[in-house]
Amino acid sequence: MRVRTASLACLLLLATLALPAAAQQSQAPTREPDVIFVPTPQEVVDGMLKLAGVGPKDIVYDLGCGDGRTVVTAVKKFGALRAVGVDIDPERIADSNATAKEAGVTDKVKFIQGDLFEADIKEATVVTLYLLTSLNQKLRPKLWLELRPGTRIVSHAFDMGDWQPEKTEDVDGRKIYFWTIPNDAKARAGAGQK
Ligand SMILES: C[S@@+](CC[C@H](N)C(=O)[O-])C[C@H]1O[C@@H](n2cnc3c(N)ncnc32)[C@H](O)[C@@H]1O
Repeated sequence: MRVRTASLACLLLLATLALPAAAQQSQAPTREPDVIFVPTPQEVVDGMLKLAGVGPKDIVYDLGCGDGRTVVTAVKKFGALRAVGVDIDPERIADSNATAKEAGVTDKVKFIQGDLFEADIKEATVVTLYLLTSLNQKLRPKLWLELRPGTRIVSHAFDMGDWQPEKTEDVDGRKIYFWTIPNDAKARAGAGQK
């Protein structure tokens, strides 16, 4: 009996030691983020969604969604049909879910923890970005291959290198860029062309 009690105590001790480690692991990103979290000011978020002409037929994806403000604004203020945020950092996903709950829009938004380079984005009609020019350039083949022609892209602060924007604007001293996916994007991306 004493042996069984001792074994149980050992098991409990092991479980107690293992629990915090497991909890920490579930909160760690699957890999290091490519860029740290810096939120886009709300006026700039509004400017981006306005520049993209977001409306009731749109499904908006924010790749690297931070605290979810762009996703929530897309449905709450611009009346988007739905919006999806992708972030590699579980803490950002928790923040995003809290933002959506506070705004009362949990039924219209979804937040996915994962690498934006591996996300399924094909249903998007608008994609928003606040990454880096190098990351935008790395992402461009995926955008061209997976998004439908006419899908609108807006980026805060960072351009796409030699893919020239159709429009640029200044909002409160911040630059925003606008592109649409060309009709022949798939063929050109497949052929490795610009
Ligand atoms: C500069 S913040 C932009 C946040 C938000 N889009 C905004 O404009 O307020 C970049 C975000 O991208 C996320 N991120 C970085 N690398 C990523 C990756 N490979 N996949 C998904 N998210 C990533 C970071 O965790 C961070 O929240």
